[in-house]
Amino acid sequence: MKNILSAIQPTGDLHIGNYFGAVQNWVRLQQEYHCTYGVVDYHSMTMPYKAEQLRENTWKMVFYLLACGVKPENLFVQSLVPEHVELTWILSCVTSYGELSRMTQFKDKTDQLKETDKEAFVSSGLFIYPVLMAADILIYHADYVPVGKDQEQHLELSRNVAQRFNNQFGKEYFRHPEPLYTETPKILSPADPSRKMSKSLGEKHYINLFGEEERVRKQIKSAVTDTGDTPAGQMSPGVQNLFEILRACGQTDAYNALMTDYQAGALRYADLKETVADALAALTSAFRERLHTLNADKRAVKAQIQESSAAIRKRTQQTLREVREIVGLLPIK
Ligand code: TRP
Repeated sequence: MKNILSAIQPTGDLHIGNYFGAVQNWVRLQQEYHCTYGVVDYHSMTMPYKAEQLRENTWKMVFYLLACGVKPENLFVQSLVPEHVELTWILSCVTSYGELSRMTQFKDKTDQLKETDKEAFVSSGLFIYPVLMAADILIYHADYVPVGKDQEQHLELSRNVAQRFNNQFGKEYFRHPEPLYTETPKILSPADPSRKMSKSLGEKHYINLFGEEERVRKQIKSAVTDTGDTPAGQMSPGVQNLFEILRACGQTDAYNALMTDYQAGALRYADLKETVADALAALTSAFRERLHTLNADKRAVKAQIQESSAAIRKRTQQTLREVREIVGLLPIK
């Protein structure tokens, strides 16, 4: 069975863009592959953060993923597997300064920091973040990595690092991980459909997967439909987004019926919005319910993830034993 590895940063809320764009796919892939999924808290230390908040968000993300259907035995918390960091160091020694300097996300994030504060602190952790990501992937000998297009460059770096390691030490040790791009809907911000749904834009720009029904309905109701700058005869991005959400919710019949109305010029946006709001309300209420069940015994869930992380850690310890031997470090007795 092929290995799949993917990971998500503990950023607080999980929105429907994250769900339809990634997590739903992760859940499905579990049927066909040997999947390992991480909540990568070490990654979240690369940007300014608060210690207590990080710990809280890490557990939050674990609970969200479980509520979405990620199997507990497939899930680990990155910092419970410190071998990721050891491998990062080793791989950083076969990664060049030049290739890291070409990472566009590093430039984007640096700009983002400097935007709010010209003197902002840019950590070297942010700079070597792609090496940590390569370690996440290579440590499990992943064959496939489901990622969004924004991570393409990082994944390519992982492949280059694997190859350089293999060449340098004269051994085909690491596998070459391939990206797994699946058709996933691209969900836009309801408040500004010219941009992708994202938490960093602010609260009105994303729909929380575990949000209260009232709020979800309100957000759809006030979603921007026509901005006035869409050429005649074209569907505006806001309306497209509502259709996209409807289809993502699996409401094909409603989608087709409303699309027919649209094409006949007879669609009332209020009807579209109501259908989308109903679909999302049904979806989110199921998620809220599962989260509620998990929250009823938080301690048991946390113990379960400590255990699964420990089991997953065993695999990484085997990798590190082999890697240490290959690179000339001493065996740990
Ligand atoms: N860098 C990814 C992101 O910000 C998260 C991530 C960390 C990841 N390690 C990974 C994704 C390994 C895939 C595989 O979205």
